[in-house]
Amino acid sequence: MKIAIGSDHGGFELKEHILNYLLSHGYNVDDFGTDSLESTDYPIFALNVSKSVANKTHDRGIVICGTGVGISIAANKVRGIRCALVSDCFSAKATRQHNDTNVLALGGRVIGKGLAEEIVDIWINTEFEGGRHNRRIDLITDIEKLEKS
Ligand code: RB5
Repeated sequence: MKIAIGSDHGGFELKEHILNYLLSHGYNVDDFGTDSLESTDYPIFALNVSKSVANKTHDRGIVICGTGVGISIAANKVRGIRCALVSDCFSAKATRQHNDTNVLALGGRVIGKGLAEEIVDIWINTEFEGGRHNRRIDLITDIEKLEKS
């Protein structure tokens, strides 16, 4: 699985931590920045990570800002992206099983590193359940087509 990861300055420290965590566990991860604590704009990183997932260069994306809110909103503007802001393990599992999310958003100023590792592990390793959830994903895609045509 190829993973793209990116953050703004508010998510920088957690992004570096999760990047190193995933690399040390053998995952194939590409870092889309930012590369320091200098103030920057989260939509840039949401767009670059999300485009790479939407065009299938990467299988999944992880985006991080201070709260995770802004960067998740921006990621969900990219066609084909289903991004969930997650700060608990139950939602990490459910959003893969039910929503087939392809981008995970985290809040670098909200959750600690240990919880973030657990969330990422669960989110990466949980499969989509399909079945009735396919119909709901298709309805989301219909909205996307209507709104973007
Ligand atoms: C940056 O200060 C902060 O607004 C950003 O990281 C994020 O929390 C926005 O939703």
